[in-house]
Amino acid sequence: WVLTVTAQTPTNIAVIKYWGKRDEDLILPINDSISVTLDPHHLCTTTSVAVSPAFTHDRMWLNGKEVSLSGGRYQNCLRELRSRAGDVEGEEKGIKITKKDWEKLHFHIVSYNNFPTAAGLASSAAGLACLVFSLAKLMNVKDDHSRLSAIARQGSGSACRSLYGGFVKWIMGKEQNGSDSIAVQLADEKHWDDLVIIIAVVSSRQKETSSTSGMRETVETSMLIEHRAKEVVPKRIIQMEEAIKNRDFPAFARLTCADSNQFHAVCLDTLPPIFYMNDTSHRIISCVEKWNRFEGTPQVAYTFDAGPNAVLISHNRKAAALLLQRLLFHFPPNSDADLNSYVIGDKTI
Ligand code: DP6
Repeated sequence: WVLTVTAQTPTNIAVIKYWGKRDEDLILPINDSISVTLDPHHLCTTTSVAVSPAFTHDRMWLNGKEVSLSGGRYQNCLRELRSRAGDVEGEEKGIKITKKDWEKLHFHIVSYNNFPTAAGLASSAAGLACLVFSLAKLMNVKDDHSRLSAIARQGSGSACRSLYGGFVKWIMGKEQNGSDSIAVQLADEKHWDDLVIIIAVVSSRQKETSSTSGMRETVETSMLIEHRAKEVVPKRIIQMEEAIKNRDFPAFARLTCADSNQFHAVCLDTLPPIFYMNDTSHRIISCVEKWNRFEGTPQVAYTFDAGPNAVLISHNRKAAALLLQRLLFHFPPNSDADLNSYVIGDKTI
């Protein structure tokens, strides 16, 4: 027999960034972060997990290619899930898995991203969240989303925020064992649904410095990171929560852009410096800044993760349509900029 579960998880984009760990194994961050989860059907990971007594070891295929599961992160997630697994009875007669059986059983996992992997589009977030969620369903783990977020966190920090839709806060927590480092939902997906997110794919190539090693180097060498984590982010988190609660787009945009810029500033303050953005990214920033200044009030917010692609958040469909026009004007298809636009959230634009 084979039992399978399939799940789909959207990616999330941080508007107040997570950068830096206080514990590398448990993946505990040095500051809180806030993200927005994208619509489930746009940038997402689909994962099927299967269990069978015929499987002799755990195997995983990502976008059709087999990948190794020997890493500590996967093993940590699996250990946590096994310790919480329940009894399962299959629909067909005769399938009965007890809590103890999970220790010996192995999984086959097939996962697809519908967007470029490791190009700074937070693919690990959707991937690990989906893996933990689908395995939890298969293994009849009864924990709520917050507890599951603490498991997904051990796969990849940003993954813990993808367990919820809408606006999500990852609370850094204080405990050494990480039990209070969990994600909570600040507002659901309906709360501010006139926002439109456009991702300008500047490059779909794999990034040179992974987030994991980049943030390690920053913590080891940057003098700015401590100031950011201790002084700047705590205040910004409070202001961002307020902006989200009040659907205050000017405040939201100001905080989002400032936090993205500071994140890239600490990358530059790292030794050796890390450059995630390229010339096209910088041109997009200038274009948005000029437009916002011209209008007198922000129309669009930009944020860049560990790669050159721009995530642009506009406050309504009209602003998003104008933004797309501008992007196409400044970065025409087939120009050197290699820009393909993905429209998220509203297909009619
Ligand atoms: C820039 O979650 O990919 O996207 O925890 O080492 O797996 P690990 O790192 P990861 O880092 C994401 C960094 C970021 C900012 C963010 O998503 O908050």
